[in-house]
Amino acid sequence: MKQRENFSSKLGIIVATAGSALGLGNIYRFPCEAGTNGGGAFLIVYLIIALLIGTPLMVSEFVIGRRARSNPIGAFRLLSGKKNVWPVVGYLGVLCAFLILAFYTTVAGWTLGYLGKSAANHFAGQDLGQIQLQFMNFTNHPWLPIVCQLIFLALTAFVVARGVKDGIERWSKILMPLLLVIMVVLCINSLTLSGAKEGLRFFFNPDFGKINGRVLISALGQAFFSLSIGMGALITYGSYIGKKDNMVSSAAGVVLADTLVAVLAGVIIFPAAFTFGIQPQAGASLAFTTLPMVFQQMTGGYFFCLIFFLLLVIATLTSTISLLEVIVAATTEEMKLSRPLAAILGAVDTALIGVLATLSFRDGSPLHIGGRTVFDLLDHMTASYFMPLGGLLIVLFVGWKMKRADVLDELTNGGTLKTGLRKAILFIIRYLAPVAIAVIFISQLVGK
Ligand code: TRP
Repeated sequence: MKQRENFSSKLGIIVATAGSALGLGNIYRFPCEAGTNGGGAFLIVYLIIALLIGTPLMVSEFVIGRRARSNPIGAFRLLSGKKNVWPVVGYLGVLCAFLILAFYTTVAGWTLGYLGKSAANHFAGQDLGQIQLQFMNFTNHPWLPIVCQLIFLALTAFVVARGVKDGIERWSKILMPLLLVIMVVLCINSLTLSGAKEGLRFFFNPDFGKINGRVLISALGQAFFSLSIGMGALITYGSYIGKKDNMVSSAAGVVLADTLVAVLAGVIIFPAAFTFGIQPQAGASLAFTTLPMVFQQMTGGYFFCLIFFLLLVIATLTSTISLLEVIVAATTEEMKLSRPLAAILGAVDTALIGVLATLSFRDGSPLHIGGRTVFDLLDHMTASYFMPLGGLLIVLFVGWKMKRADVLDELTNGGTLKTGLRKAILFIIRYLAPVAIAVIFISQLVGK
């Protein structure tokens, strides 16, 4: 039998998982959600959920993946024995990967378009009105955003077709640290703006009165989305982790890095938004109007803008790679397709729904279902329903269906790592995480 590919080192897993986690979720979606859900109130709930539920859930996915050495569908089948319903969780994950990839590549395409705009120096000397108009014109353009989206999907398919180690690991290793550096520079720049104080107050002052069911489920969905958990992407990556690697510290490292980048994005965007008079509730346009405004007033703005959008494109690409990899791992192993064919078919299928998501953004587009654009609907369905449900089933599976001894064996690498902390994590996986996810999930259903 052909040996399954592995990441080459512990650094390889952290880097690939961080590559999956870091992306538009941090820089585009997080500020958008924080802005519309009350700023500080959202942040505090988010931090608690990411650290307390996010880490154990990420570890759970690694445990399933490495134990089974298989894609999510095969993993649940292998670990649950014959004639079981558990593989449904795997199917749900693969479906979820499709749906996320479809709308994710809409915004991924925008980043590509904005990379082009920054190369062509489209933001220099523009006022807020003009920059807002550029965003409207771009998203309303009849074909440009679609072409950008399709190019992005093709790039993703190209990398995934070449395989895990070559494609995924190599890209992430160099570029993720560079993104962090440039974000720190932007962060310092934002702190010197006139609206810094007001922006920071909005972002960091928790108004506990604003916490309600909607804030809770938004923060939960955002944490799952940002950490790439709850649908099998990290089961897939877990299946490439070597037997000697430390999964708990890897997961903790990724959660910290991901949270740091999200908070940095907030510190860049909110002070700037208050300075330039952009509403923090601006939603989808928040990042794409605020950031060009920041660059356009900065010394060396052209240069920073170009590098920033380049890195954003790459961070986004390492995320789309992990989403397509879920589909490709499942179809190559379950249906015995070749890797390149699976990558192409996956991308084409995604494009079919993805184009609708992109078109639904145009003003007056008929692509609305139940008052939401197709784009919003896909986002909402996955982040508020599929991922929390998937996450709940995953922690229940590891906590209650798998044998406790097997789980501890995975967590401690066969007893060679310290057990105290790992038992505590297993406790969270068994009791705290399922209850917390269930409570938040139900609070949204009843709290409408
Ligand atoms: N986490 C990525 C981001 O924040 C997006 C992403 C990649 C994702 N893989 C995923 C989201 C799997 C959910 C599930 O941009």
